[in-house]
Amino acid sequence: MAIVLVTGSAGLIGSESVRFFCDRGYTVVGIDNNMRQVFFGEDASTEWNRAKLSQDYGDKYIHHAVDIRDHEAISAIFKTYSHDISLIIHTAAQPSHDWAAKDPYMDFSVNANGTLVLLENTRQQCPQAVFIFCSTNKVYGDRPNELPLVEKELRWEISENHPYFAQGIDELMSIDACKHSLLGASKVAADVLVQEYGRYFELANCLFSRRLFNRSKSFGNPITRVFILLNEMYDDRQRIQYLWV
Ligand SMILES: NC(=O)c1ccc[n+]([C@@H]2O[C@H](COP(=O)([O-])OP(=O)(O)OC[C@H]3O[C@@H](n4cnc5c(N)ncnc54)[C@H](O)[C@@H]3O)[C@@H](O)[C@H]2O)c1
Repeated sequence: MAIVLVTGSAGLIGSESVRFFCDRGYTVVGIDNNMRQVFFGEDASTEWNRAKLSQDYGDKYIHHAVDIRDHEAISAIFKTYSHDISLIIHTAAQPSHDWAAKDPYMDFSVNANGTLVLLENTRQQCPQAVFIFCSTNKVYGDRPNELPLVEKELRWEISENHPYFAQGIDELMSIDACKHSLLGASKVAADVLVQEYGRYFELANCLFSRRLFNRSKSFGNPITRVFILLNEMYDDRQRIQYLWV
């Protein structure tokens, strides 16, 4: 029995991941303690989405309302499914710059320590599993602002003479000596941990440094299943692309 484990499973990207795999017949184990409500208040609760997943998928969706920082509880979940876990999609996080500045300890512990708990349990319990981390463009800090930019009608574009023009910014762009915000720093820590567990322990890790996806109050409706990917916000001109998730 192949199990997919999704953290942040009631959130925007986590819940779409749950749906994707449940629709294809997988059993999905979700971990989400509705921390979003703690961060942003009652209106931000994702409990309605958790309930909908349970209603739509019954026993194909197994929910654990556990904090990803709780090493013992997370370890118990990993031990239960152990080698049956074939894929881990890690989306649970504190996602706000402003909030991170208000409570740096909490921000760092959720984003960095929580990621470490998941990586270490993957290594101990299911090292064969693929680990996908939803990282963020914030790991690049304000470094993209140093790129040679050309003003176009609707957006700023990287100069055609620059190596990044053809394929976009790759992972080799330096993240040193630029401003990240505390959120960016906690995400960098998580990002580097994921890379390091891949290299050092040879786990099958990968990460996505995405930009911005849209959110509506009820992100379960079909319109909001089309995530809108906005380009870097150099000013208010942005090219909008559509990314089906
Ligand atoms: N949505 C975007 O536009 C965007 C852009 C760039 C990067 N990202 C990153 O992608 C990831 C997922 O984003 P999202 O928009 O789905 O976030 P989201 O806030 O909708 O979902 C995250 C979920 O994780 C849960 N959670 C938070 N802390 C937890 C903890 N300690 N233990 C257990 N559960 C916890 C929350 O309750 C929430 O349901 C995040 O890492 C975010 O930083 C998102």
